[in-house]
Amino acid sequence: MKTKVTVVGSGNVGATLAQRIAEKELADVVLVDIIEGVPQGKSLDMLEAAPVEGFDAKLIGSNNYEKTGSSDVVVITAGLPRKPGMSRDDLLWKNEEIVAGVTSEIVKRSPHCILIVVSNPLDAMCEVARRVSGFPRERVIGMAGVLDSARMRSFIALELEVSVENTHAFVLGGHGDTMVPLPRFSSVAGIPITELLSKEKIHSIVERTRNGGAEIVNLLKTSAWYAPSAATAEMVEAILRDKKKILPCAAYLTGEYGIKDLFVGVPVKLGAKRIEKVIEIALTDDEKAQLAKSADAVRELFEKLKTK
Ligand SMILES: NC(=O)c1ccc[n+]([C@@H]2O[C@H](COP(=O)([O-])OP(=O)(O)OC[C@H]3O[C@@H](n4cnc5c(N)ncnc54)[C@H](O)[C@@H]3O)[C@@H](O)[C@H]2O)c1
Repeated sequence: MKTKVTVVGSGNVGATLAQRIAEKELADVVLVDIIEGVPQGKSLDMLEAAPVEGFDAKLIGSNNYEKTGSSDVVVITAGLPRKPGMSRDDLLWKNEEIVAGVTSEIVKRSPHCILIVVSNPLDAMCEVARRVSGFPRERVIGMAGVLDSARMRSFIALELEVSVENTHAFVLGGHGDTMVPLPRFSSVAGIPITELLSKEKIHSIVERTRNGGAEIVNLLKTSAWYAPSAATAEMVEAILRDKKKILPCAAYLTGEYGIKDLFVGVPVKLGAKRIEKVIEIALTDDEKAQLAKSADAVRELFEKLKTK
């Protein structure tokens, strides 16, 4: 049987993700949305690009979940995106309802799938998916850290005029204003940026990373999708190709980093066995304090959730 990925939400992030998955021939894709004709039309349009682009993946769009059965990975991008002036938290109530509904439809038909959550506010939506699905923590993963660190890597590469491929960056914590970029673990060809850039430059890169989402929202009047879909595709690929990549993802912590029963962005090993390991790195007191503050912000949101 061919590998199958369902992407729920055929908007900006979902449709672009479906395109990336198909073009990389990672899996066949089922695209689901509530808007009539849109997932069907976008899927057909992408399918018709296949002969030119040369990929052999099938894409089907639907307004229901019939075709999603036995998916290997399901990505939830359904929900409202941010508008200017809105924080990710403003989306909480509406998206909670949407993500809970989507998750229950998905788990009925794909009880063994891996759920990747993209909808915001990210860490809280991961918790909704975890509670509704009843899945173990290995199979509910949030996308945020790969995107946040991709942004940081882009800014490092721009600043130092080096290939993005030489850059590495780590961003921990919740996906929000309290995220914790870690310059100490961010490097160019293995050299920590703390040895390559002044404190001021690093500070401005860190601030731009923290505000990376808002910078795009202010320009586009909606949230980003090219980098978010690329980041999600990297996670899907790591799982389906069993790459055992270490990537920063939102994971449900059970005591790691002194944090319990919360989704927080940390480095994890992603492979065929899903989250194969949560990687703990030694943090300085300052980094620990920043992570604890970020975890507190996530906890506050969890307490507001209606899904029990
Ligand atoms: N985690 C991240 O880093 C990150 C990055 C970018 C966007 N996001 C979030 O991802 C979500 C999607 O963003 P977008 O830009 O693609 O938005 P979008 O508005 O372009 O697409 C969202 C789609 O979800 C659909 N939808 C709504 N309710 C649904 C339901 N019950 N079932 C199926 N589909 C439903 C809508 O019809 C729409 O097509 C937002 O919540 C956004 O904030 C997260």
